[in-house]
Amino acid sequence: MALLSHCQRGDEYIAGQEAHTYKYEAGGAAVLGSIQPQPIEFEKNATLDFRKIETKIKPDDFHFARTRLLCLENTHGGKVLPFSYHQEARTFADKHNLALHLDGARVFHAVVKQGVTLADITRHYDSVSICLSKGLGAPVGSVLCGSKVLIDDARRWRKILGGGMRQAGVLAAAGLYALDNNIERLQDDHHHARILAEGLSGLPGITCDTNEVQTNIVYISTQTPEMADGLRAYLKTQGIMIGGGQRMRLVTHIDISLNAIEKTLGHCANYLSQ
Ligand SMILES: Cc1ncc(COP(=O)(O)O)c(C=O)c1O
Repeated sequence: MALLSHCQRGDEYIAGQEAHTYKYEAGGAAVLGSIQPQPIEFEKNATLDFRKIETKIKPDDFHFARTRLLCLENTHGGKVLPFSYHQEARTFADKHNLALHLDGARVFHAVVKQGVTLADITRHYDSVSICLSKGLGAPVGSVLCGSKVLIDDARRWRKILGGGMRQAGVLAAAGLYALDNNIERLQDDHHHARILAEGLSGLPGITCDTNEVQTNIVYISTQTPEMADGLRAYLKTQGIMIGGGQRMRLVTHIDISLNAIEKTLGHCANYLSQ
């Protein structure tokens, strides 16, 4: 909805190669909006390098799509964008006459990690999307924030996309509860992720770069694909489900207790020390 509201048919948006808006939404911007994506490799710290972006911005020439929007993601793969980057992105976007959107599905993890307010981050953006149903723990829901003009447009797109709901109050109530009660506790999830990462990194056959774990997402790899399959099958018998292939993504959230983390570590240790 955000992309569709910012861009017209034949416009282009720039996003990270692994960005959710580009990679994980079934090509929706292109399919539904005739918006051309211009993906750029992420840097290791989840930023997009402005020099790389600059080389991809199209000149005003009828041969090219109109580069219209820069879309960033915070957090991305659990990594928090450096705080100063937001202002730099704003300056860059203004210089190149681009709108600036933040996929802030997990932006509250950045807020808690950096000890800043939401507005400290979001004031630099023209629009921000925030997910209520991940770390914040609401059963469902995301919100799109932006100017009245943009949101009026987005409401129309929401209707077109089949997302209009009449009885949304009960879901909104859960979202409001999450915003009132579940932000500070994200620290617990970050703490649990760290315990998980440190525990797993010490197990035979597991690679886990604990330096990469900043918030609530832990990536691990096994030495072989077979080892991952074996571990997954064993954990399943213990009531622990893990997705992925040889590289696995583990995410802590409101429903994952410290006890569950310890249990998971114990079962992983049992299996891997066999
Ligand atoms: C980084 C990121 N952005 C956006 C989304 C999309 O959220 P929603 O489906 O609530 O719009 C997700 C959800 O999986 C996500 O992980």
